[in-house]
Formats: sequence, C-alpha cells, structure tokens
Amino acid sequence: MEFYKIELEKLDYLPTMPSVLKKLLEILNDNSVSNKEIAKIVSLDSSISAKILSIANSAIFGGYSPINDLNLAITRLGRVDVKTIAMTLFISTMLKKFKLKNIVIENFWRHNLAVSFIARRIAQYLKKDVDFTEEERVVLYLTGLFHDIGYILFDQVNPDIMLLIKNQAIEQDEPFIELERIIVHTTHAQEGAELLKYWNLPKEITDTVRYHHEPYAATDKSIQKCAKIINMADYLANLFEMSTFKEVRYGVAFENLWNEFEFSSYTKEEFTEFKNELASQTNLFISFSELALNI
Ligand SMILES: [Fe+2]
Ligand SMILES: [Fe+2]
Repeated sequence: MEFYKIELEKLDYLPTMPSVLKKLLEILNDNSVSNKEIAKIVSLDSSISAKILSIANSAIFGGYSPINDLNLAITRLGRVDVKTIAMTLFISTMLKKFKLKNIVIENFWRHNLAVSFIARRIAQYLKKDVDFTEEERVVLYLTGLFHDIGYILFDQVNPDIMLLIKNQAIEQDEPFIELERIIVHTTHAQEGAELLKYWNLPKEITDTVRYHHEPYAATDKSIQKCAKIINMADYLANLFEMSTFKEVRYGVAFENLWNEFEFSSYTKEEFTEFKNELASQTNLFISFSELALNI
C-alpha cells in the first residue's frame, strides 16, 4: 500500500497554537524572565490562569494558605508545571475537537500522562549514574505527554487504516510500530513529531518524540538519552497496564536500554522495589491529573 503523506497544512480542522501559549513556552525557557512577567502573560489567557490557580491551591500542593495571586501560584508550582499545565490544556482542548474512532481518549491520556510522570521519576532515580540538565528534565516531561500524539493524527486522518493496523497488531501479535512501517511506511512517532514541529515546539521535544521507539537512531547525544528514558517509561507504563490500546503488544527494547545505562549501583531487589513503588505513585499521579485538568 502506498503511504499517504499527511499534509498538515491541508487539515483545516487543525488548530494553530494560541499566541499566548507560544509566548509562554518561549519565556519559560528563559531564566532571566521573572515569575512576575510570566504571570502577566499567563493572565492574558483566562483558562490557563484559572487552571494554574486551581492546581496551585489543590491538595497535592497543600499545606499552604490559599492563594489567588498568579505570581505566587507560579512560584509554588514551578516553571516546569506551569509549562505542562499550559501545554496539556492546549492539547486536550484540541483533542476534544477531533472525532476519534479507534482511540479511547481517556486511555490515550492515561498512557501519555503515565509516561510523562514515569520518565521524570526515572531521571530522578538515575541521578547517581546519569546527569540530566534542567532542560532535559523539561524535555522528558513534555515529550512524555505528547509522545504518542501521532496515533491521534492517524485516527483522525484515516481511521480505516488505523483500524487495519490495530487489528493486525492483535491478530499477528506484532508490535504496532512494525505494522505501521509495513502498512503506511511511516510511524506515529514520525508523524507526531511533524505535528509538534508544525506547532513550533522546540527541536529537543520534536526529535525526542521522533526517536522514542528507536533511540539509537538519534545522532544528538542528549536527544538519544531522553529518547531512551521515554522508551523505558513507555515500557513501564504498558507494564502497569496504562496503555492506549489495551489489547496491542508494544515492542520495547527495555532490558537492553536498562543494561546500557550500567546501573551497577542498583541491585535487582532495589529495582523491583522501585518498580512497585512507581506503579502506585503513577496511579496516584494520574488520578490527580485527571481531576485537576479535567481531561
Ligand atoms: Fe509510541
Ligand atoms: Fe507510548
């Protein structure tokens, strides 16, 4: 079958990124910009402002007196979370406009939120052995949130092909991504990266999405490192049964990746303990996010 190139500019239902959000993403990377200035930009968008305030006041950030000042809310949440909240709101609003046939949106979110959370926790866990810059942590968090957005695009553009791939993945017990390569000559990772590029997301995020199933193909060392973590997080999320498609098998070279990082300082028992704790922490995080973000 000949693959159709998804021409994003021809999809008239695809929203462009709101200018407030574009500006926000730019300045959140700039350490010389104060929280006060960030608050000023956030206040231009009432839905983002309201969400940030409600999350800053929620139980998980509790133990403080209630606040209704955006500036304080941003200080309490930190820039990473402000960025995540803003991006999640944008993508979830956009996804609500799509008519999806083969994807249960709640499952999609649960999986992507799980990968985002797990990736961040793995980076913390690996601190002893691997260095992550603040920027790389942000990349992990945001990439986790959108790493499988290509599925949404496939289902929106051609639901019949999506169904065909899904059915074959189940019947033949083949990893989804391998069938994408055979049937449409591209992958959700590739097309998802293009969609995020279309929205002007930074190259570190678009490329980590692009390589999340084949980290070794990334030539940039930092992107390769982040793609490996996302790949591991993806494996764990599916292991914890937080998958977009419950019945489908996912091919992930997790064990190799884990060994490659040479976690000699961790015993098997320590890792098992980490994994078990992570499963319950992830569940907790997801319930909180679903509640807070109302997705
Ligand atoms: Fe994926
Ligand atoms: Fe995934």
